[in-house]
Amino acid sequence: MIGVFDSGVGGLCAFNKLRELLPREDLIYLADRKNAPYGTKTKDEILSFTKANIKRLRALGAEKILIACCTASTLYGELSLGEREICTPIITPSAKIAATVGRKIAVIATEHTVRSAAFSREIGRFSTLPVTEMAEQELVRLVERGNRDGRLSCECRGYLLGLADRVRATGADTLILGCTHFSHLEGEIGAMLPHMKIISPAREGAKEIARKVNPKHRECGRITYM
Ligand code: DGL
Repeated sequence: MIGVFDSGVGGLCAFNKLRELLPREDLIYLADRKNAPYGTKTKDEILSFTKANIKRLRALGAEKILIACCTASTLYGELSLGEREICTPIITPSAKIAATVGRKIAVIATEHTVRSAAFSREIGRFSTLPVTEMAEQELVRLVERGNRDGRLSCECRGYLLGLADRVRATGADTLILGCTHFSHLEGEIGAMLPHMKIISPAREGAKEIARKVNPKHRECGRITYM
């Protein structure tokens, strides 16, 4: 069984992708609503929530765990060896893609994730591209309140218009949705920034764990031209 966790509904984007990629796998989702939001908490608090979630999912039978939360994934290096062995964090796969497809990268994320500079560091392992990280914590609250693609309050629409202006001002050509909650608004954000490549760590993280669980897994079949 694969366990997936987040502070709330954000990780469901990864969970749904995983269900699509590994339809026969047993999955379990944990939303740690009691301690949400994670992005405004201290590093020690987030680490202790993360460890508790791993322990709980393990006790429920999860053999592998997807940390479907960028904020918690920033602390992957602080987990014990045993925890790291069964967990897949979601920052590295999207950082790798951004470093390949982008020229100038913008990241929108929680306050903690931006403070940690984890995306800049990871992208820096694969390239020398300029990265601008922006804390957009308010968007977590708006998504938790039910704002999703195709179903936006005026408040959320207004927020996204301002966000699109801030992202445009960075001059980036690639945007990482560096908090899984934001993937619920990928369609709306993409429509407001039509010329940008949008990368979702929720989706890339799900693909990464699917590859680990089933190394033969390919999202698309191989195509051979002869
Ligand atoms: N969805 C989370 C992330 O990817 C956490 C949001 C929060 O609880 O602040 O960072």
